[in-house]
Amino acid sequence: MGETVLFASGKGGVGKSTACAATARALAAQGRRVLVVDGDAGLRSLDLLLGLEDQVVYDWLDVLHGAVSTNSVLLRCEDEGELYFLPAPITDNDADPALFGKLIGLLAEKFDFVLLDAPAGVGEMVRLLSAPATNAVVVATPDAASVRSAYLTGERLLSSGIAAPRLLINKVRPERIRRGEQANLDELIDRTELRLIGVVPLCDAIADSAVQGRLSFPPDCAAAEAFRRIARRMQGESVPLTPM
Ligand SMILES: Nc1ncnc2c1ncn2[C@@H]1O[C@H](COP(=O)(O)OP(=O)(O)O)[C@@H](O)[C@H]1O
Ligand SMILES: [Mg+2]
Repeated sequence: MGETVLFASGKGGVGKSTACAATARALAAQGRRVLVVDGDAGLRSLDLLLGLEDQVVYDWLDVLHGAVSTNSVLLRCEDEGELYFLPAPITDNDADPALFGKLIGLLAEKFDFVLLDAPAGVGEMVRLLSAPATNAVVVATPDAASVRSAYLTGERLLSSGIAAPRLLINKVRPERIRRGEQANLDELIDRTELRLIGVVPLCDAIADSAVQGRLSFPPDCAAAEAFRRIARRMQGESVPLTPM
């Protein structure tokens, strides 16, 4: 039985989907069998980030409605090891929580990691997604509003039964921290009351790739190294923070 990890955040635009896709690729590159599930029904984006938008025909709601089998909906990412994708419905959904949980539970038996990309906030959909999750990563940027909402998201996940949600701080600008223009990382972590899983710097290549849709960044950039380390921590390794 693999781990099912929910990527959540209070605010949108912080990089949840980006972090979910990049961590999934890193886990697959490290030899793990990984499934990414787009849980952002209505506002799906992971098909674009993973470069699979032309291949999406069905989604997990079709599976829940019994229209198609799970195997016919899973897409495989070319040249990414054992990395698979389950698309979200394009419309808002009326998924039965029990059926959704059962589907994710069955899939988790076939993968080392199932990563669930949540919509922003702590609404109904996040409750649906957190039920089958064994773990969660709360994504935040260094701004005050994002940090506060990470704390609130963490609280909500704890009350949904996720024992130890972890914090991923994204879009960090080390030079701003050094110049004292941004709160230092320890302060941010304390305010969220969450345990850190990683710190990812702001990366021009990631922002540029978003214009085309498919997530891409050079393997030797600092963000790539940060995601590789996050993937190793998810597998239980103790890895120091990336020097910035
Ligand atoms: N580390 C980063 N450096 C630069 N841009 C980033 C980084 N992470 C995410 N982004 C950009 O931020 C925007 C929002 O990211 P996205 O993953 O869609 O956020 P969310 O899923 O939380 O709404 C996208 O344009 C993405 O390319
Ligand atoms: Mg998203």
